[in-house]
Amino acid sequence: MGEAMTKKLIVFASGTGSNFEALADHFDRTKTAAILALVCDQPGAPVLAKAKRRGIPVIALNYRDYPDKAAAEAALIAHLPACDLIVLAGFMRIIGSTLLNAYPNRIINLHPALLPSFPGRTGIADAFNYGVKVTGVTVHYVDAGIDSGKIIAQAPVLIGEGTTLPELETAIHDVEHHLLPQTIEALIKEEKI
Ligand code: GRF
Repeated sequence: MGEAMTKKLIVFASGTGSNFEALADHFDRTKTAAILALVCDQPGAPVLAKAKRRGIPVIALNYRDYPDKAAAEAALIAHLPACDLIVLAGFMRIIGSTLLNAYPNRIINLHPALLPSFPGRTGIADAFNYGVKVTGVTVHYVDAGIDSGKIIAQAPVLIGEGTTLPELETAIHDVEHHLLPQTIEALIKEEKI
């Protein structure tokens, strides 16, 4: 039996990077995929130090250097190494048509709520404030809308009587750190990437 090829991932992140770290830890163990580069749009984001510590190359994308999103994405594409999958893990921008067309069905996003409920930047707090008793985490393909692409995987998180928002945030992140690597692992196993 031939040895399976290691899949090539590029991770996009804007902030803390706990999901970037969870992905890197996971694939360091399984070797089924490798993170070729981190794309980050926020100078000084904590995720940058995490990539540096691991020796993962960083591609800094400063949108203000370009006249518009299409120009920024075209410049980015020219710098990206060949990859099997782009993973948005806390990347706080809408992907434009330039990048979407360059990577059809090869961009996935992590969202901290059970889509189609509570899309957008504040999904955890929106679910909490609405009073839902079950929220969760979604991994989906990225399309031109906001958190609207086809759903690949979901996992629930229960909101108990006395649960506080910080407790819910911790619970969501714990689930994210497992669901995202497991979902990519499943895509690899099912030969979808
Ligand atoms: C995650 O909750 C993700 O779902 C959301 O942004 C957060 C990023 O967290 N889109 P981190 O930077 O991976 O720690």
